[in-house]
Amino acid sequence: MPVPEVRTPVHVEGEVVATKRVGAHRHLTLTAPGVPERFRAGNFVAVSVPGHVARRALWIHRVRASSAFGPTLDVVLEARGAGTSWLAAQPVGARVPITGPLGRAFALPKDAVSCLLVGEGYAAAPLFPLAERLRERGCAVSLVVSAPDESRLLSALEARRAVRSVTVLTADGSVGQRGRVADHVDELLRRADADVVYATGPAEVLRASAAAAERAGAWSQVGLEVSALCGTGLCHGCPLPVVGEDGVDRVVRACTEGPVVRGDRVRWDAL
Ligand SMILES: Cc1cc2nc3c(=O)[nH]c(=O)nc-3n(C[C@H](O)[C@H](O)[C@H](O)COP(=O)(O)OP(=O)(O)OC[C@H]3O[C@@H](n4cnc5c(N)ncnc54)[C@H](O)[C@@H]3O)c2cc1C
Ligand code: FES
Repeated sequence: MPVPEVRTPVHVEGEVVATKRVGAHRHLTLTAPGVPERFRAGNFVAVSVPGHVARRALWIHRVRASSAFGPTLDVVLEARGAGTSWLAAQPVGARVPITGPLGRAFALPKDAVSCLLVGEGYAAAPLFPLAERLRERGCAVSLVVSAPDESRLLSALEARRAVRSVTVLTADGSVGQRGRVADHVDELLRRADADVVYATGPAEVLRASAAAAERAGAWSQVGLEVSALCGTGLCHGCPLPVVGEDGVDRVVRACTEGPVVRGDRVRWDAL
């Protein structure tokens, strides 16, 4: 697979141009001059939160090249702590300092292969633009969206155009099939006859997806959420334990060498 291109991020003042609550999530549409134009699926933005040194990392869910406000990007928030709660409460017109796009994007296969995309909760966000890129390359895309319950499931309606099939999994069975990714991923991979697996979500989802890919002889790429401080490679505050290409264990910066890495390279027990 080709090494994905790294593009220079920009630090800009963004503006909230739309905000919408969907279940337990808040979807924000923001202007951020220069960020949508540089975006590749799998990139994230880092948002500065008043009174906090650490920026908050957010997957870019979607970009629009043009709108009434110019180019925009969408993020999906699950309000948990001070940063996500502050951002989720911002009204239309609020100004937000944004750095991005950050991180290594998903590498795209050269050939029109079969791909399984697995995303849990809000973290399924970067898989939607990925599905579109893969479809443009003629890949057959099977999408799995999972969540603990219906309120934290990212609706796959918007992705249907770009994918061959959608599977919905909830741990409590409130919608779709009951169960967790680990219970179903081998069967889903077999049904999709996937050559490549892309996964985003909590570490256990990524680990299960990477392990299933390895059992099936498929490639995997995982988008890891290692807590980030600066998001730009300066502070070394986002250690990601991997096995290098040379087979040597090392620790890399998740925000620059990741967040997307090969699943078989992650030292899961050391995370
Ligand atoms: C590359 C990347 C992309 C991300 N994309 C998104 C996104 O699109 N939407 C989104 O809502 N969040 C996303 N996150 C996670 C988000 O950046 C962190 O959860 C951040 O710490 C939230 O800040 P906070 O101030 O709200 O919560 P904090 O005060 O930092 O944490 C609040 C509580 O949540 C726990 N917590 C922190 N991070 C996580 C996590 N990843 N999963 C579960 N519990 C956690 C903490 O242990 C703490 O108990 C992403 C993280 C990374 C690294
Ligand atoms: S968060 Fe600062 S180097 Fe990664």
